[in-house]
Amino acid sequence: MSELPKAVRLVEVGPRDGLQNESAHLPAAVRADLIMRLAEAGLTHIEAGAFVSPRWVPQMAATAEVMSLLPQRPGVSYPVLVPNEKGLDAALEAGAREIAVFAAASQSFSQRNINCSIEASMERFAPVVERALDAGLKVRGYVSCVLGCPYEGEIDSSAVAWVARELRGLGCYEISLGDTIGVGTPGRARALVKRVSQDVPLPELAVHFHDTYGQALANIYACLLEGVSVVDASVAGLGGCPYAAGASGNVASEDVVYMLNGLGIRSGIDLDRLVAAGNFISEQIGQSSRSRVALARGGAVAREEV
Ligand code: HMG
Ligand code: MG
Repeated sequence: MSELPKAVRLVEVGPRDGLQNESAHLPAAVRADLIMRLAEAGLTHIEAGAFVSPRWVPQMAATAEVMSLLPQRPGVSYPVLVPNEKGLDAALEAGAREIAVFAAASQSFSQRNINCSIEASMERFAPVVERALDAGLKVRGYVSCVLGCPYEGEIDSSAVAWVARELRGLGCYEISLGDTIGVGTPGRARALVKRVSQDVPLPELAVHFHDTYGQALANIYACLLEGVSVVDASVAGLGGCPYAAGASGNVASEDVVYMLNGLGIRSGIDLDRLVAAGNFISEQIGQSSRSRVALARGGAVAREEV
């Protein structure tokens, strides 16, 4: 395939993947404020947090409080990450309508991130997904380290395809392929999507790039050409990866929307409002925005840098 999609759905991961890796630990009210600004900008899928161990990821503590502050908006969903049944219980109690389970394509990363092997994670997720589906929730699946692992180096695309297929088999409606440490390049990214789509239908695949080597937008463009139409991104380029020195945040949502606009691809997102949301959160964490679009528009330079 070499035709660009007419529309792309953005999955905003800043309030979760972004903030979980920032050193600032923000109160629930600020996190909820960010999410509401993102919804105002037209985002329809906004990850609101994670029901994981607060010892492992203290930034995501108080996710239930964040959820309690979010007004229901028609057509907007606030997925939360859930690693096990304990997390599911908390998500259900908080009224979550969508969860995401997260596996890895690398054994070492799986062990460090969720303290079990890839196979054990699938056994752990099975009852989580089953119970969530029974309760009427939607379940998304993540595969981390799809183009490289901080411990194992290059990852075989067949290993990625295996994990993606397993997650789909459990009942995930969409599988997000995560270049967690941002080492991918466009040719490899496109080849990966081609390979995984042999096991999981293309419309059920999303891509999730970090911008460590400055390749994220090029990677996304390559994957759009391959037929992908769901892209994860993080406002202001928030985030990083605690297990990979120098890994930068996810590609900035503002930069993705600017590129989509230039390509004539619909996203339903108001770029001005999105930039404003990114500037808001950058001020809250006291850092310059990592969105090139926001910087080009003169916003969100950390006060000490002015
Ligand atoms: P464990 O230590 O093996 O768990 O951690 P455990 O079952 O032995 O329990 C240990 C303690 O944690 C107990 O508390 C449990 O109650 C508690 P204690 O008795 O010691 O006081 N606990 C929990 N607390 C709150 N919520 C829970 C929960 N489960 C157990 N759900 C565990 C296993 C999975 C819990 C842990 O490893 C963990 O929380 N990991 C989360 C790591 C994480 O959130 N990583 C970031 C998300 S993945 C990612 O960012 C990549 C992605 O964005 C894709 C990409 O970027 O490419 C998705
Ligand atoms: Mg990520």
